Amino acid sequence: KEVKLWGGRFEESVTDAVERFTESISYDKLLYKQDIMGSRAHATMLARQGLMTESDRDSILKGLDQIERSIESGEFVWRADREDVHMNIEAALTDLIGEPAKKLHTARSRNDQVLTDFRLWCRDAIDKILVHIKQLQVALVTLAIKNEGLIVPGYTHLQRAQPVLLQHLLLSYVEQLERDADRLVDCKNRLNFCPLGACALAGTGLPIDRFMTSEALGFTAPLRNSIDAVSDRDFVLEFLSANSITAIHLSRIGEEWVLWASEEFGFLTPSDSVSTGSSIMPQKKNPDPMELVRGKSARIVGDLVSVLVLCKGLPHAYNRDLQEDKEPLFDSVKTIIGMLEVTAEFAQNITFNRERIQKSLPAGHLDATTLADYLVKKGVPFRTSHDIVGRCVALCVLKNCQLLDLSLDELRSINPIFEEDVYEFLGVENAVKKFSSYGSTGSECVAEQLFYWVTKLGIN
Ligand code: ARG
Repeated sequence: KEVKLWGGRFEESVTDAVERFTESISYDKLLYKQDIMGSRAHATMLARQGLMTESDRDSILKGLDQIERSIESGEFVWRADREDVHMNIEAALTDLIGEPAKKLHTARSRNDQVLTDFRLWCRDAIDKILVHIKQLQVALVTLAIKNEGLIVPGYTHLQRAQPVLLQHLLLSYVEQLERDADRLVDCKNRLNFCPLGACALAGTGLPIDRFMTSEALGFTAPLRNSIDAVSDRDFVLEFLSANSITAIHLSRIGEEWVLWASEEFGFLTPSDSVSTGSSIMPQKKNPDPMELVRGKSARIVGDLVSVLVLCKGLPHAYNRDLQEDKEPLFDSVKTIIGMLEVTAEFAQNITFNRERIQKSLPAGHLDATTLADYLVKKGVPFRTSHDIVGRCVALCVLKNCQLLDLSLDELRSINPIFEEDVYEFLGVENAVKKFSSYGSTGSECVAEQLFYWVTKLGIN
Protein backbone atom coordinates (compact mmCIF):
# COMPACT_ATOMS: atom_id res chain seq x y z
CA LYS A 1 0.00 0.00 0.00
CA GLU A 2 1.24 3.47 -0.90
CA VAL A 3 1.81 5.36 2.34
CA LYS A 4 2.47 8.74 0.87
CA LEU A 5 0.02 9.03 -2.00
CA TRP A 6 -0.66 12.61 -0.90
CA GLY A 7 2.92 13.58 -0.25
CA GLY A 8 4.76 15.02 2.65
CA ARG A 9 1.88 15.96 4.86
CA PHE A 10 0.84 12.36 5.51
CA GLU A 11 2.50 9.81 7.72
CA GLU A 12 0.00 6.98 7.59
CA SER A 13 -2.02 5.34 4.86
CA VAL A 14 -5.79 5.14 5.19
CA THR A 15 -7.49 2.26 6.98
CA ASP A 16 -8.79 -0.60 4.88
CA ALA A 17 -12.39 0.40 5.50
CA VAL A 18 -11.75 3.99 4.42
CA GLU A 19 -9.93 2.75 1.35
CA ARG A 20 -12.80 0.48 0.37
CA PHE A 21 -15.30 3.21 1.05
CA THR A 22 -13.60 6.03 -0.82
CA GLU A 23 -12.10 4.28 -3.83
CA SER A 24 -13.70 4.80 -7.21
CA ILE A 25 -11.26 2.84 -9.32
CA SER A 26 -13.64 -0.13 -9.38
CA TYR A 27 -15.91 1.86 -11.70
CA ASP A 28 -14.16 5.02 -12.90
CA LYS A 29 -11.55 2.95 -14.75
CA LEU A 30 -14.14 3.18 -17.51
CA LEU A 31 -12.73 6.68 -18.04
CA TYR A 32 -9.18 5.52 -18.76
CA LYS A 33 -9.19 6.41 -22.45
CA GLN A 34 -10.50 9.89 -21.83
CA ASP A 35 -8.07 10.36 -18.95
CA ILE A 36 -5.14 9.49 -21.19
CA MET A 37 -6.43 11.74 -23.98
CA GLY A 38 -6.69 14.60 -21.50
CA SER A 39 -3.16 13.98 -20.21
CA ARG A 40 -1.75 13.92 -23.72
CA ALA A 41 -3.35 17.28 -24.53
CA HIS A 42 -2.26 18.71 -21.18
CA ALA A 43 1.38 17.60 -21.52
CA THR A 44 1.54 18.90 -25.09
CA MET A 45 0.23 22.26 -23.92
CA LEU A 46 2.61 22.42 -20.94
CA ALA A 47 5.59 21.86 -23.23
CA ARG A 48 4.39 24.49 -25.70
CA GLN A 49 4.04 26.95 -22.83
CA GLY A 50 7.53 26.24 -21.57
CA LEU A 51 6.27 24.49 -18.41
CA MET A 52 8.08 21.27 -19.29
CA THR A 53 10.79 20.34 -21.75
CA GLU A 54 10.03 18.69 -25.06
CA SER A 55 11.94 15.63 -23.95
CA ASP A 56 9.83 15.34 -20.77
CA ARG A 57 6.73 15.67 -22.92
CA ASP A 58 7.95 12.97 -25.27
CA SER A 59 8.62 10.51 -22.49
CA ILE A 60 5.20 11.28 -20.99
CA LEU A 61 3.49 10.70 -24.33
CA LYS A 62 5.38 7.45 -24.87
CA GLY A 63 4.62 6.32 -21.35
CA LEU A 64 0.93 7.09 -21.77
CA ASP A 65 0.83 5.06 -25.00
CA GLN A 66 2.37 2.13 -23.21
CA ILE A 67 -0.07 2.40 -20.31
CA GLU A 68 -3.01 2.57 -22.70
CA ARG A 69 -1.81 -0.59 -24.42
CA SER A 70 -1.36 -2.41 -21.15
CA ILE A 71 -4.86 -1.40 -20.01
CA GLU A 72 -6.33 -2.62 -23.27
CA SER A 73 -4.48 -5.91 -23.17
CA GLY A 74 -5.71 -6.45 -19.61
CA GLU A 75 -2.23 -6.48 -18.07
CA PHE A 76 -2.57 -3.21 -16.22
CA VAL A 77 -3.09 -3.63 -12.47
CA TRP A 78 -5.69 -1.26 -11.05
CA ARG A 79 -4.95 -0.46 -7.44
CA ALA A 80 -7.57 0.57 -4.91
CA ASP A 81 -4.86 2.16 -2.75
CA ARG A 82 -4.37 4.57 -5.64
CA GLU A 83 -7.99 5.54 -5.28
CA ASP A 84 -9.16 6.49 -8.75
CA VAL A 85 -8.40 6.31 -12.44
CA HIS A 86 -6.46 9.57 -12.39
CA MET A 87 -4.08 8.58 -9.58
CA ASN A 88 -3.70 5.08 -10.98
CA ILE A 89 -2.58 6.28 -14.37
CA GLU A 90 -0.36 9.06 -13.04
CA ALA A 91 1.32 6.78 -10.50
CA ALA A 92 1.78 4.05 -13.09
CA LEU A 93 3.38 6.63 -15.36
CA THR A 94 5.78 7.59 -12.57
CA ASP A 95 6.62 3.92 -11.99
CA LEU A 96 7.27 3.62 -15.70
CA ILE A 97 9.19 6.77 -16.68
CA GLY A 98 10.22 8.32 -13.36
CA GLU A 99 10.99 12.05 -12.97
CA PRO A 100 9.31 13.51 -16.10
CA ALA A 101 5.94 12.09 -14.96
CA LYS A 102 6.07 14.37 -11.93
CA LYS A 103 5.57 17.36 -14.20
CA LEU A 104 2.29 16.10 -15.68
CA HIS A 105 0.07 17.36 -12.90
CA THR A 106 1.37 20.94 -13.26
CA ALA A 107 -1.57 23.36 -13.34
CA ARG A 108 -4.08 20.56 -13.05
CA SER A 109 -6.24 19.13 -10.28
CA ARG A 110 -8.26 15.97 -10.27
CA ASN A 111 -11.24 18.30 -9.99
CA ASP A 112 -10.84 19.65 -13.51
CA GLN A 113 -9.34 16.38 -14.73
CA VAL A 114 -12.30 14.21 -13.74
CA LEU A 115 -14.73 16.59 -15.43
CA THR A 116 -12.68 16.69 -18.59
CA ASP A 117 -12.73 12.90 -18.68
CA PHE A 118 -16.40 12.70 -17.84
CA ARG A 119 -17.51 15.24 -20.43
CA LEU A 120 -15.48 13.45 -23.09
CA TRP A 121 -17.03 10.15 -22.03
CA CYS A 122 -20.56 11.58 -22.16
CA ARG A 123 -19.92 12.95 -25.63
CA ASP A 124 -19.09 9.45 -26.90
CA ALA A 125 -21.90 7.83 -24.96
CA ILE A 126 -24.42 10.20 -26.54
CA ASP A 127 -23.14 9.31 -30.01
CA LYS A 128 -23.63 5.63 -29.22
CA ILE A 129 -27.16 6.14 -27.92
CA LEU A 130 -28.04 8.16 -31.01
CA VAL A 131 -27.08 5.21 -33.21
CA HIS A 132 -29.36 2.93 -31.18
CA ILE A 133 -32.26 5.37 -31.31
CA LYS A 134 -31.96 5.49 -35.07
CA GLN A 135 -31.85 1.70 -35.31
CA LEU A 136 -35.06 1.46 -33.32
CA GLN A 137 -36.70 4.09 -35.52
CA VAL A 138 -35.73 2.07 -38.58
CA ALA A 139 -37.16 -1.11 -37.01
CA LEU A 140 -40.45 0.66 -36.25
CA VAL A 141 -40.76 2.17 -39.72
CA THR A 142 -39.99 -1.22 -41.24
CA LEU A 143 -42.70 -2.76 -39.07
CA ALA A 144 -45.09 -0.04 -40.26
CA ILE A 145 -44.26 -0.78 -43.90
CA LYS A 146 -45.01 -4.47 -43.32
CA ASN A 147 -48.44 -3.63 -41.93
CA GLU A 148 -49.80 -1.26 -44.55
CA GLY A 149 -53.54 -0.64 -44.40
CA LEU A 150 -54.10 -2.42 -41.09
CA ILE A 151 -56.72 -0.62 -39.01
CA VAL A 152 -56.60 -0.98 -35.24
CA PRO A 153 -58.83 0.42 -32.52
CA GLY A 154 -57.46 3.67 -31.11
CA TYR A 155 -57.93 4.06 -27.37
CA THR A 156 -58.40 6.89 -24.93
CA HIS A 157 -58.74 6.01 -21.25
CA LEU A 158 -58.02 2.50 -22.58
CA GLN A 159 -61.58 2.57 -23.92
CA ARG A 160 -62.23 2.24 -27.62
CA ALA A 161 -62.18 5.67 -29.21
CA GLN A 162 -61.67 5.95 -32.97
CA PRO A 163 -60.17 3.69 -35.62
CA VAL A 164 -56.57 4.43 -36.58
CA LEU A 165 -54.07 2.95 -38.96
CA LEU A 166 -51.49 0.83 -37.16
CA GLN A 167 -48.86 2.70 -39.19
CA HIS A 168 -50.05 5.93 -37.62
CA LEU A 169 -49.53 4.55 -34.13
CA LEU A 170 -46.09 3.10 -34.93
CA LEU A 171 -45.00 6.40 -36.45
CA SER A 172 -46.08 8.20 -33.29
CA TYR A 173 -43.39 6.20 -31.47
CA VAL A 174 -40.89 7.26 -34.13
CA GLU A 175 -41.72 10.94 -33.57
CA GLN A 176 -41.14 10.61 -29.85
CA LEU A 177 -37.80 8.94 -30.41
CA GLU A 178 -36.78 11.75 -32.73
CA ARG A 179 -37.31 14.29 -29.96
CA ASP A 180 -35.35 12.02 -27.63
CA ALA A 181 -32.47 12.13 -30.11
CA ASP A 182 -32.77 15.93 -30.43
CA ARG A 183 -32.57 16.29 -26.66
CA LEU A 184 -29.36 14.26 -26.60
CA VAL A 185 -27.85 16.34 -29.40
CA ASP A 186 -28.70 19.52 -27.46
CA CYS A 187 -27.21 18.00 -24.34
CA LYS A 188 -24.03 17.10 -26.20
CA ASN A 189 -23.66 20.60 -27.63
CA ARG A 190 -24.15 22.15 -24.21
CA LEU A 191 -21.73 19.83 -22.43
CA ASN A 192 -18.98 20.10 -25.00
CA PHE A 193 -16.98 22.78 -23.15
CA CYS A 194 -13.63 22.21 -21.54
CA PRO A 195 -12.99 22.34 -17.77
CA LEU A 196 -9.28 21.56 -18.05
CA GLY A 197 -7.13 24.30 -16.52
CA ALA A 198 -9.78 25.30 -13.99
CA CYS A 199 -7.47 23.36 -11.63
CA ALA A 200 -8.82 22.91 -8.11
CA LEU A 201 -11.29 25.77 -8.44
CA ALA A 202 -9.47 29.07 -8.86
CA GLY A 203 -7.44 28.50 -12.00
CA THR A 204 -3.67 29.04 -11.89
CA GLY A 205 -0.97 31.69 -12.08
CA LEU A 206 1.11 29.47 -14.36
CA PRO A 207 1.05 30.46 -18.04
CA ILE A 208 -1.19 27.70 -19.39
CA ASP A 209 -3.22 27.90 -22.60
CA ARG A 210 -6.71 26.60 -21.96
CA PHE A 211 -7.79 27.31 -25.52
CA MET A 212 -5.13 25.00 -26.84
CA THR A 213 -6.17 22.00 -24.72
CA SER A 214 -9.85 22.67 -25.36
CA GLU A 215 -9.26 22.62 -29.09
CA ALA A 216 -7.01 19.57 -28.99
CA LEU A 217 -9.76 17.63 -27.21
CA GLY A 218 -12.45 18.70 -29.66
CA PHE A 219 -14.32 20.94 -27.25
CA THR A 220 -16.13 24.03 -28.50
CA ALA A 221 -14.30 26.32 -26.04
CA PRO A 222 -12.90 26.34 -22.51
CA LEU A 223 -15.50 26.92 -19.79
CA ARG A 224 -15.48 30.62 -18.92
CA ASN A 225 -15.54 30.34 -15.13
CA SER A 226 -13.18 28.02 -13.24
CA ILE A 227 -15.44 27.76 -10.19
CA ASP A 228 -18.37 26.81 -12.38
CA ALA A 229 -16.15 24.38 -14.27
CA VAL A 230 -15.41 22.23 -11.21
CA SER A 231 -18.77 22.67 -9.45
CA ASP A 232 -21.20 22.03 -12.26
CA ARG A 233 -22.91 18.72 -12.79
CA ASP A 234 -25.84 20.00 -14.76
CA PHE A 235 -24.52 18.26 -17.86
CA VAL A 236 -24.85 14.98 -15.97
CA LEU A 237 -28.37 15.88 -14.87
CA GLU A 238 -29.34 16.88 -18.37
CA PHE A 239 -28.02 13.64 -19.85
CA LEU A 240 -29.80 11.60 -17.16
CA SER A 241 -33.00 13.57 -17.79
CA ALA A 242 -32.84 12.95 -21.52
CA ASN A 243 -32.33 9.24 -20.88
CA SER A 244 -35.23 9.23 -18.44
CA ILE A 245 -37.59 10.68 -21.02
CA THR A 246 -36.44 8.13 -23.60
CA ALA A 247 -36.89 5.37 -21.02
CA ILE A 248 -40.43 6.52 -20.29
CA HIS A 249 -41.22 6.45 -24.00
CA LEU A 250 -39.88 2.91 -24.28
CA SER A 251 -41.76 1.89 -21.17
CA ARG A 252 -45.02 3.03 -22.74
CA ILE A 253 -44.31 1.07 -25.90
CA GLY A 254 -43.47 -1.90 -23.69
CA GLU A 255 -46.75 -1.62 -21.83
CA GLU A 256 -48.70 -1.37 -25.09
CA TRP A 257 -47.06 -4.46 -26.56
CA VAL A 258 -47.39 -6.48 -23.37
CA LEU A 259 -51.08 -5.62 -23.30
CA TRP A 260 -51.55 -6.38 -26.98
CA ALA A 261 -49.82 -9.75 -26.58
CA SER A 262 -52.36 -10.82 -23.93
CA GLU A 263 -55.11 -13.31 -24.70
CA GLU A 264 -57.63 -10.54 -24.01
CA PHE A 265 -56.26 -8.31 -26.78
CA GLY A 266 -54.52 -10.90 -28.90
CA PHE A 267 -53.43 -8.19 -31.35
CA LEU A 268 -49.84 -9.31 -31.64
CA THR A 269 -47.68 -12.37 -31.27
CA PRO A 270 -43.97 -12.13 -30.49
CA SER A 271 -41.79 -14.83 -32.01
CA ASP A 272 -40.26 -17.44 -29.71
CA SER A 273 -36.89 -15.74 -30.13
CA VAL A 274 -38.09 -12.77 -28.09
CA SER A 275 -40.27 -14.63 -25.60
CA THR A 276 -39.61 -16.69 -22.52
CA GLY A 277 -41.48 -19.51 -20.83
CA SER A 278 -42.53 -20.48 -17.35
CA SER A 279 -40.71 -22.90 -15.07
CA ILE A 280 -44.03 -24.36 -13.93
CA MET A 281 -46.75 -23.59 -16.48
CA PRO A 282 -45.94 -25.47 -19.66
CA GLN A 283 -48.27 -23.42 -21.86
CA LYS A 284 -46.79 -20.02 -21.04
CA LYS A 285 -45.06 -17.74 -23.53
CA ASN A 286 -44.31 -14.39 -21.97
CA PRO A 287 -43.21 -11.09 -23.52
CA ASP A 288 -40.49 -10.65 -20.84
CA PRO A 289 -38.14 -8.41 -22.83
CA MET A 290 -40.78 -5.69 -23.07
CA GLU A 291 -41.78 -6.15 -19.45
CA LEU A 292 -38.16 -5.57 -18.54
CA VAL A 293 -38.01 -2.53 -20.79
CA ARG A 294 -40.90 -1.22 -18.72
CA GLY A 295 -39.16 -2.31 -15.53
CA LYS A 296 -35.71 -0.98 -16.30
CA SER A 297 -37.11 2.48 -16.91
CA ALA A 298 -37.41 2.60 -13.11
CA ARG A 299 -33.67 2.44 -12.59
CA ILE A 300 -33.04 5.11 -15.20
CA VAL A 301 -35.41 7.44 -13.40
CA GLY A 302 -33.73 6.37 -10.15
CA ASP A 303 -30.32 7.28 -11.57
CA LEU A 304 -31.60 10.78 -12.35
CA VAL A 305 -33.11 11.18 -8.92
CA SER A 306 -29.88 9.98 -7.27
CA VAL A 307 -27.83 12.71 -8.90
CA LEU A 308 -30.50 15.38 -8.37
CA VAL A 309 -30.50 14.63 -4.66
CA LEU A 310 -26.69 14.32 -4.66
CA CYS A 311 -26.30 17.88 -5.96
CA LYS A 312 -29.02 19.46 -3.88
CA GLY A 313 -27.52 21.68 -1.19
CA LEU A 314 -23.86 21.13 -2.20
CA PRO A 315 -21.78 24.27 -1.73
CA HIS A 316 -19.49 25.37 -4.57
CA ALA A 317 -16.94 24.14 -5.71
CA TYR A 318 -15.81 20.48 -5.66
CA ASN A 319 -17.07 18.19 -2.90
CA ARG A 320 -16.17 14.54 -2.66
CA ASP A 321 -19.88 13.73 -2.78
CA LEU A 322 -19.61 14.43 -6.48
CA GLN A 323 -17.68 11.22 -7.04
CA GLU A 324 -21.12 9.60 -6.69
CA ASP A 325 -22.22 11.08 -10.02
CA LYS A 326 -20.50 8.42 -12.06
CA GLU A 327 -22.18 5.13 -11.29
CA PRO A 328 -25.71 6.44 -11.93
CA LEU A 329 -24.65 7.85 -15.29
CA PHE A 330 -22.78 4.71 -16.33
CA ASP A 331 -25.81 2.67 -15.30
CA SER A 332 -28.22 4.94 -17.13
CA VAL A 333 -26.23 4.73 -20.37
CA LYS A 334 -25.78 0.98 -20.24
CA THR A 335 -29.43 0.44 -19.40
CA ILE A 336 -30.87 2.75 -22.05
CA ILE A 337 -28.73 1.13 -24.73
CA GLY A 338 -30.01 -2.31 -23.69
CA MET A 339 -33.59 -1.07 -23.73
CA LEU A 340 -33.25 0.45 -27.19
CA GLU A 341 -31.58 -2.67 -28.55
CA VAL A 342 -34.17 -5.06 -27.19
CA THR A 343 -37.11 -2.91 -28.25
CA ALA A 344 -35.73 -2.89 -31.79
CA GLU A 345 -35.33 -6.67 -31.74
CA PHE A 346 -38.83 -7.08 -30.43
CA ALA A 347 -40.12 -4.86 -33.23
CA GLN A 348 -38.33 -7.09 -35.74
CA ASN A 349 -39.95 -10.16 -34.24
CA ILE A 350 -43.63 -9.44 -33.76
CA THR A 351 -46.56 -10.26 -35.98
CA PHE A 352 -49.77 -8.31 -35.81
CA ASN A 353 -52.74 -10.65 -35.96
CA ARG A 354 -54.76 -9.11 -38.76
CA GLU A 355 -57.71 -11.45 -38.48
CA ARG A 356 -58.07 -11.11 -34.75
CA ILE A 357 -57.78 -7.34 -34.96
CA GLN A 358 -60.32 -7.12 -37.78
CA LYS A 359 -62.78 -9.30 -35.88
CA SER A 360 -62.54 -6.98 -32.92
CA LEU A 361 -63.16 -3.77 -34.86
CA PRO A 362 -66.99 -3.78 -34.83
CA ALA A 363 -67.01 -3.43 -31.05
CA GLY A 364 -66.99 -0.05 -29.36
CA HIS A 365 -68.69 2.18 -31.99
CA LEU A 366 -65.36 3.47 -33.29
CA ASP A 367 -67.20 5.30 -36.11
CA ALA A 368 -69.45 7.39 -33.83
CA THR A 369 -67.34 10.56 -34.08
CA THR A 370 -67.21 10.24 -37.87
CA LEU A 371 -71.00 10.05 -37.83
CA ALA A 372 -71.13 13.24 -35.77
CA ASP A 373 -68.88 14.91 -38.38
CA TYR A 374 -71.31 13.72 -41.11
CA LEU A 375 -74.09 15.67 -39.42
CA VAL A 376 -71.81 18.72 -39.09
CA LYS A 377 -71.26 18.54 -42.86
CA LYS A 378 -75.06 18.70 -43.20
CA GLY A 379 -75.03 21.94 -41.21
CA VAL A 380 -75.89 20.59 -37.73
CA PRO A 381 -74.02 22.37 -34.90
CA PHE A 382 -71.49 19.96 -33.40
CA ARG A 383 -72.99 19.89 -29.90
CA THR A 384 -76.36 18.95 -31.41
CA SER A 385 -74.86 16.29 -33.64
CA HIS A 386 -72.96 14.89 -30.62
CA ASP A 387 -76.30 14.52 -28.85
CA ILE A 388 -78.02 12.93 -31.88
CA VAL A 389 -75.22 10.36 -32.39
CA GLY A 390 -75.26 9.67 -28.64
CA ARG A 391 -78.89 8.67 -29.02
CA CYS A 392 -78.05 6.47 -32.04
CA VAL A 393 -75.40 4.73 -29.91
CA ALA A 394 -77.90 4.27 -27.11
CA LEU A 395 -80.22 2.55 -29.60
CA CYS A 396 -77.35 0.28 -30.73
CA VAL A 397 -76.62 -0.63 -27.13
CA LEU A 398 -80.29 -1.50 -26.69
CA LYS A 399 -80.36 -3.59 -29.87
CA ASN A 400 -76.86 -4.95 -29.35
CA CYS A 401 -75.76 -3.90 -32.84
CA GLN A 402 -73.38 -1.50 -34.62
CA LEU A 403 -74.22 1.94 -35.98
CA LEU A 404 -74.09 0.60 -39.55
CA ASP A 405 -76.77 -1.97 -38.67
CA LEU A 406 -79.33 0.75 -37.96
CA SER A 407 -81.81 1.20 -40.85
CA LEU A 408 -82.34 4.60 -42.40
CA ASP A 409 -85.81 4.62 -40.80
CA GLU A 410 -84.36 3.96 -37.38
CA LEU A 411 -81.77 6.72 -37.86
CA ARG A 412 -84.50 9.09 -39.10
CA SER A 413 -86.65 8.24 -36.11
CA ILE A 414 -83.89 9.85 -34.05
CA ASN A 415 -83.44 12.78 -36.43
CA PRO A 416 -84.87 13.23 -39.96
CA ILE A 417 -81.67 14.81 -41.24
CA PHE A 418 -80.05 11.41 -41.99
CA GLU A 419 -79.94 10.45 -45.68
CA GLU A 420 -78.85 7.39 -47.65
CA ASP A 421 -75.25 8.76 -47.92
CA VAL A 422 -74.83 8.21 -44.16
CA TYR A 423 -73.67 4.66 -44.85
CA GLU A 424 -70.53 6.04 -46.56
CA PHE A 425 -69.49 7.25 -43.12
CA LEU A 426 -70.20 4.10 -41.16
CA GLY A 427 -67.96 1.14 -40.40
CA VAL A 428 -64.30 1.51 -39.51
CA GLU A 429 -63.08 1.27 -43.11
CA ASN A 430 -65.29 4.17 -44.17
CA ALA A 431 -64.55 6.08 -41.00
CA VAL A 432 -60.76 5.93 -41.56
CA LYS A 433 -61.21 7.13 -45.16
CA LYS A 434 -62.89 10.30 -43.94
CA PHE A 435 -59.85 11.56 -42.01
CA SER A 436 -58.02 14.26 -43.91
CA SER A 437 -56.54 16.81 -41.49
CA TYR A 438 -52.77 17.30 -41.38
CA GLY A 439 -51.20 14.63 -39.17
CA SER A 440 -54.40 12.57 -39.04
CA THR A 441 -54.94 8.86 -39.52
CA GLY A 442 -56.28 9.29 -43.08
CA SER A 443 -54.38 6.94 -45.35
CA GLU A 444 -52.88 9.72 -47.46
CA CYS A 445 -51.80 11.64 -44.37
CA VAL A 446 -50.16 8.54 -42.96
CA ALA A 447 -48.55 7.75 -46.31
CA GLU A 448 -47.01 11.22 -46.25
CA GLN A 449 -45.68 10.65 -42.74
CA LEU A 450 -44.30 7.29 -43.76
CA PHE A 451 -42.60 8.81 -46.79
CA TYR A 452 -41.08 11.48 -44.55
CA TRP A 453 -39.51 8.88 -42.25
CA VAL A 454 -38.44 6.48 -44.98
CA THR A 455 -36.58 9.37 -46.60
CA LYS A 456 -35.19 10.86 -43.41
CA LEU A 457 -33.93 7.53 -42.08
CA GLY A 458 -32.65 6.47 -45.50
CA ILE A 459 -34.60 3.20 -45.61
CA ASN A 460 -34.09 1.69 -49.10
N1 ARG B 1 -12.41 10.41 -7.97
C1 ARG B 1 -12.78 11.78 -7.83
C2 ARG B 1 -14.20 11.99 -8.37
O1 ARG B 1 -14.63 11.17 -9.11
C3 ARG B 1 -11.84 12.66 -8.57
C4 ARG B 1 -11.74 14.03 -8.00
C5 ARG B 1 -11.18 13.94 -6.66
N2 ARG B 1 -10.81 15.20 -6.14
C6 ARG B 1 -10.49 15.36 -4.87
N3 ARG B 1 -10.13 16.53 -4.50
N4 ARG B 1 -10.51 14.37 -4.01
O2 ARG B 1 -14.86 12.93 -8.04
